[in-house]
Formats: sequence, structure tokens, C-alpha cells
Amino acid sequence: MLIFSTETSCDETAVAILKFNQKGQFKLLSNQVSSQIKIHAPWGGIVPNLAAREHSKNILPVIKKAFSETSLSPKNMDLFCVTSGPGLIPALLIGVNAVKTLSYFYQKPLIGVHHIEGHIYSNYIQKNQGDLKQFKFPILNLVISGGHTQLILMKNHLEYEIIGQTQDDAVGEAFDKVAKLLGFEYPGGPIISQQAQEAEKLLEDKELAGKYSEIKFPRPMMHTKDFNFSFSGLKTAVLYFYQRLETQKLSKEEPGIWKKFISKAFQEAVVEVLQHKTLKAIETHEPKTVLLSGGVSANNEILKTIKDTLKEQFPEIIFNSPEKDFCGDNAAMIGVAGISRYLYGDRKKFEYNWKNLEADSNLKIN
Ligand code: KG4
Ligand code: ZN
Repeated sequence: MLIFSTETSCDETAVAILKFNQKGQFKLLSNQVSSQIKIHAPWGGIVPNLAAREHSKNILPVIKKAFSETSLSPKNMDLFCVTSGPGLIPALLIGVNAVKTLSYFYQKPLIGVHHIEGHIYSNYIQKNQGDLKQFKFPILNLVISGGHTQLILMKNHLEYEIIGQTQDDAVGEAFDKVAKLLGFEYPGGPIISQQAQEAEKLLEDKELAGKYSEIKFPRPMMHTKDFNFSFSGLKTAVLYFYQRLETQKLSKEEPGIWKKFISKAFQEAVVEVLQHKTLKAIETHEPKTVLLSGGVSANNEILKTIKDTLKEQFPEIIFNSPEKDFCGDNAAMIGVAGISRYLYGDRKKFEYNWKNLEADSNLKIN
């Protein structure tokens, strides 16, 4: 069977085509992602109406490209599928309405997918193919993106239990805000992690290492009994520290060094909190698999720490994180989650979705 999927919840116009069978094995035939990062960068974040304008400009060329690359046409599709939420409503509406039109015109079922569900299923894509039986349940998901930071337990496909989440900023959002206050462009995550890496080399110098040790950022909510997170206090601590430095002569002489050090210290605080809460959740819920996902899963320090810690403390647990191409927003992950909904969900509900499906900026995962 063939499934066509679209993702327009934020700043990527993405389309994918996948082939799958009833056993849950699939192949990715086309994966188109048109990014708007350059358009939003000067504004320091995503401007919703600008995103919608770009999506409406890009959606048809991107759809056309996916079909021409595979020599397929919409009438060959057995299912249509789209991110219906959460996300920016003007952006979501473009994808949802485009795919509703295709589903109505070709009289094929339409599946609405939750964006975070998509991120979770990005783990199943390996070398452009995969198998939905790949990971043993229960699965503990650590989802870290620009809009979400959640620990989600899955006892089976489509069964999502949010056991912990951020009480304020998402991890990606904190990376972006810290980058902005240090004077870096949007998106901040890749720049902060690059800066942190450059700080490593500087620490070989004893005097500089002494300066680095002056930075002490908090680990908010790390020792609370629940599995929740908080990152806004950490961001504020970075802001105050940086403001204090700016008034000191020393920082004016070496602003580049301090930015690298702040990036490293901030990232270390984030890594420690994520590691600690994930371990606590593992102890309580005893998953057989741990999956990392979301745009921030591209961060090498976070990935390495979680991976190494699990290998050391829970070697029996299977660990996976998405291939780099599938960490950020894409439509392939939405297609894989759509296959799961089709195979394990209520198919009758999908038949009239060209009429019933609505974009929902606050969509809940279950
Ligand atoms: O999942 P995603 O593409 O979009 C949302 O669903 O939000 O995640 C985007 C977020 C941004 O905040 C971006 O700064 C962050 O992922 N990000 C990173 C890295 N690459 C992207 N954060 C930390 N380190 C990275 N290497
Ligand atoms: Zn995302």
C-alpha cells in the first residue's frame, strides 16, 4: 500500500511517500523538506503568518516534486495523512486543507497525525526503511523539540501516557532563547552546541579553566519526585550571568570566550537534568526500549550522554535515536506514524476525514 504524508506545523513544508505492507514493514520512496529557516532567522524566531505564506507558496511544488521523483500520482495513493496538530494554526491549515482536498478528490481515507507522535515514529526509519515491530514495548520516549519536552510511556502502538513534561519552556526553546541573548541567530540549538564544543579546547588552558569554573547554572526541578522539567529559570540564570559580565571590563575584552563558556555550562545543565529524569523514569516504569526524538535529539552531547549512561546502567534496554535527517521536522515520520494509525487504529474513522478532520493547535496525543 502507498501512503502520502504532509507536515506543515512549523517552518518546514514537507511531503513524503511511503510504501508499506500489513506486517508493518515500510520503505521511504520520497522525502521532500523545504525549510524556511532563512526567512525567519532575521526575526529571531518563527513568525506564524510568514510561515503560512511560505507554506502556501511551497506546498504544491513540494507535492509535485515527490510525485515526479517516484513517477507516481495522487491516484496511486491508498491513504493520505497529515499533521493535524499541535503547531501554529495558520501553518497547520495549509497542510491540512491541501491533503483534505486530495483525499476528497481521490476518495481515499485521510489520517490525522499528532506532531509528537510523528517525532516518536521517526525512530523507526533506518536507511530509508523500517519495521513497526522493531522495538519492544514498553517504550519510554524522551521527546525534546522546540515546542515540547516530554517523557512519554507507550505500552503499545498508539497508547501514549505522558508521565512528565516541562512546566514552562521546552528544551529547544531554551536553546533558542539563550542563543538569542548571546546574539546568535535562530535556530539557536546547533550554534550553542557548536560553541560548547569550541569551549572544550579552551579549557586546556588552566587560567581559562579557572574562569569557566566561575559559572554555576541551576538544574531546575532535578530533584523533584515527579518526571517534570523546567527550563525557564535556567535561561534566566544565563541572562543574569551574561548581563553581569557585560558590565565588567573582562567580558568586554573576551566576549567570544565567555559566550563559548556560557554555551557549554548551559548545555551541561540541560544534559544533566534530562539524564537524571530519564533514569528516574526508567527505574519506575522499567521500559524495554528507550527512544530519543525531536529536533534537539540532533544534539551530540545529549545523545552521547543518554546513550552511554544507558549502556552502563541498563545494558539490557534497547536504545535508539533518529538518524540525523529525521531529527528535525519532516513528513516521513508523519507517514510512519500514519501507517501505525492505519494498522492498529480504527480505520472506519478515516473514511470521512476529508470532511471531519480539523487542524488543532492544541491537539492532545491521545
Ligand atoms: O522538532 P523540531 O524541528 O521542531 C519542533 O517541533 O519544535 O525542533 C526544533 C528545535 C529548535 O529549537 C532547535 O534550536 C533545536 O530543535 N535544535 C537543537 C539542535 N538542532 C536543532 N538543539 C540543540 N542542539 C542541536 N544540535
Ligand atoms: Zn517537531
